[in-house]
Amino acid sequence: SSMLCRVKASAPAVNRVLGRAAATSGEVFNKYPRQVKFAECMEEELHHIDNEGMTRREHKYYNAHHGRVSHKGEGELLNFTSNDYLCLNRNPEVVKAAQHALDTHGAGLSSVRFICGTQDIHKALEKNLADFHHQDDCVLYPSGYNANVGLFEAILTSNDAVICDDGNHPSIIDGTRFTKAKVYKYKHLDMQDLSEVLEVAKSDGADLKLVVTQGAFPNTSDIAPLKEIGQVCHEGHAMLAVDDSHGVGILGAHGKGTPEFHGVLDKVHIINATFSNALGGGGGGYTVGMKEVIELIRQRARPYLFSNTLCPAAVQTAAKALELIVKSHVDLRVVFENAKLFRTQMRHAGFDVRGENLPNCPVFVGDHRIAKEIADEMHDNGILVQPLYYPYVPNDRAYLRVNMNAGHSVEDIQRCVETFIEVCRPHNLLNHNKIRHTH
Ligand SMILES: Cc1ncc(COP(=O)(O)O)c(C=O)c1O
Repeated sequence: SSMLCRVKASAPAVNRVLGRAAATSGEVFNKYPRQVKFAECMEEELHHIDNEGMTRREHKYYNAHHGRVSHKGEGELLNFTSNDYLCLNRNPEVVKAAQHALDTHGAGLSSVRFICGTQDIHKALEKNLADFHHQDDCVLYPSGYNANVGLFEAILTSNDAVICDDGNHPSIIDGTRFTKAKVYKYKHLDMQDLSEVLEVAKSDGADLKLVVTQGAFPNTSDIAPLKEIGQVCHEGHAMLAVDDSHGVGILGAHGKGTPEFHGVLDKVHIINATFSNALGGGGGGYTVGMKEVIELIRQRARPYLFSNTLCPAAVQTAAKALELIVKSHVDLRVVFENAKLFRTQMRHAGFDVRGENLPNCPVFVGDHRIAKEIADEMHDNGILVQPLYYPYVPNDRAYLRVNMNAGHSVEDIQRCVETFIEVCRPHNLLNHNKIRHTH
């Protein structure tokens, strides 16, 4: 807030200076007052955000590796916020593959895919991803966000319907804003509601119906029941698209994601995902699906057509991460064992930790200001956890994001739990079990 106050204090001074300038120069008078007004409006917004306790700050970390981040001058913190579930972003083979790509394929291509932005490595990664997911074809994007923004507009028309889980990621919501198809929502993971909404879409005359859900929901640590969703889609003549950004690489016996976890690899028609989580963290995203869908995306999806291609180092980071997973060179069990240990110990201490089967172990707090306070105190004690509040979740349902990864040791987890207990005792968060049992 000190930064905002300084802005506030200096604004009248700026006005005065400009006022004087205006007396001598009509040109300045016409030009700058508008900028001052502009700045004042922005400043007002920033004050509003700050008054609500919602201001976000970036910390400068460097050298993230194996569940730790370094903080200049303050040594190392244990990092429980990253989505690098398998700790592949520092894997020597992954880093070497990215470095080699710079030598052989350059830093970037300065072009979108269909102009001069397609190299052998782009095509190879697309082929490997399609095979990995048991789908016909794949298209790469500069990010997972773009994959979601591109999909619906490219393949649906105003006669169609897209039906969304109401807990879907903002990038999916943004994607549905671009389509001319009618957008419906169903209650998070609620099969009865999905079924009813599909009926409504049908009676509204929808031609194609596309249901879209995340596979894994990290904020609430839910895994979508894809078998049941697939069944409802089948009965309602709908296609199923899954954003599996938090499932790919870790869920299922071979890391193929939520569809493999539920044994329904053949029931999901389209999968979108990011490379930024388990797949090396080098950035980028993709869509896999049947060949007609992928071809239409190549013809129409705006982020594919109008945003530059994925750089070679990012392509090879993802390619190597995928290869390590496919060849079972990474142990997918460690991250889940870590999550189990954390949940068991935290629940024993009385915390409300959500979920069962994901490395995301959100700790429920409620009030977003308290969540921020706790995160700050954890940080002071060398533990990095992230308060999650609006627009991630409603403000009275604030969580602390606590993600396990394969690089955390048993000691790391115990230290995290002990620090939680120490920091949260005054905040009265340790009696969740008692509350639950007395109701
Ligand atoms: C479910 C989901 N989809 C898409 C994205 C966006 O991916 P990217 O960071 O590659 O844009 C995220 C990002 O965190 C996500 O959680």
